[in-house]
Amino acid sequence: MCKELVNYLNLNKGGTVLDCTVGSGGHAEAILKRIGSGGRLIGIDQDRDALDLTKNRLLKRFKNCTLVQANFRNMDTILVELSIDVLDGIIFDLGVSSLQLDSAARGFSIRLDAPLDMRMDSNLKLSAFDLVNFLPEENISDILKNYGQERWHKRIARAIVRERKKSIIVSTRQLVDLVRRVIPYRYARIHPATRTFQALRIAVNDELTALREGLNKCVGYLKKGARVCVISFHSMEDRIVKRKFRDLAKEEIFQLITKKPIRPTEEETKTNPRVRSAKMRVAEKI
Ligand SMILES: C[S@@+](CC[C@H](N)C(=O)[O-])C[C@H]1O[C@@H](n2cnc3c(N)ncnc32)[C@H](O)[C@@H]1O
Repeated sequence: MCKELVNYLNLNKGGTVLDCTVGSGGHAEAILKRIGSGGRLIGIDQDRDALDLTKNRLLKRFKNCTLVQANFRNMDTILVELSIDVLDGIIFDLGVSSLQLDSAARGFSIRLDAPLDMRMDSNLKLSAFDLVNFLPEENISDILKNYGQERWHKRIARAIVRERKKSIIVSTRQLVDLVRRVIPYRYARIHPATRTFQALRIAVNDELTALREGLNKCVGYLKKGARVCVISFHSMEDRIVKRKFRDLAKEEIFQLITKKPIRPTEEETKTNPRVRSAKMRVAEKI
């Protein structure tokens, strides 16, 4: 949705833009081309590995790009350090990147055997290993229910606790096999462990609270007429964005540019199936 995102941002040459989830820098590069050498892009990502790769790629070609390892919930601290107090555009492209999913060692993928980690920021104290092995059954069940909308949350939590009494759960493969054993197969339209992995990832990275904080903070930095674009990948994220934009529109702080979310084209979904659940919402500061 890169082309749509850049078009919706409606940027002029010389603009200053904050990319809250710079990842591999695909969107950042398209924005840098749009704002030209007189513009400035600040890219944030909490993932050190992603940032190192992107630094190598982008900083050589664009002198007007600053990359910072941080959680976007701390954007205010970063912008103060960079002496930036107004922005012409802000983007959030939420969730996990292909780079993270395809890196076996990170433990995000249900298809690759890896240590149970799932931390986007490796400085975080707790990983999926800690949640799975040390949380009480009720808390695991709540995480699976609230962040994964997993119908079988109680059953999976019970099985996790039963399993870890026998041996500690260290790998993604162990967890996948356990979930497979306890979910009745006929109910699984998607991979049976998808919701469990999503829930644990959201909990480990505190993703929904970070999103709420990031959205609250970004409002104060947008110039009049500047836009914020958010791409989300599941209904919980999209609901947060939708409500925040709607509330700010009621207060006449935002004007909604997309009444309904923009979805990827069929063509894009064919070439990149991971974007099939993406929804983009755009709002403009009044
Ligand atoms: C879908 S990818 C972004 C891809 C990027 N737009 C590109 O063009 O390559 C999401 C990225 O956001 C990062 N991320 C997720 N939540 C974050 C947060 N709260 N603060 C900073 N980065 C975050 C992840 O580490 C990941 O690299």
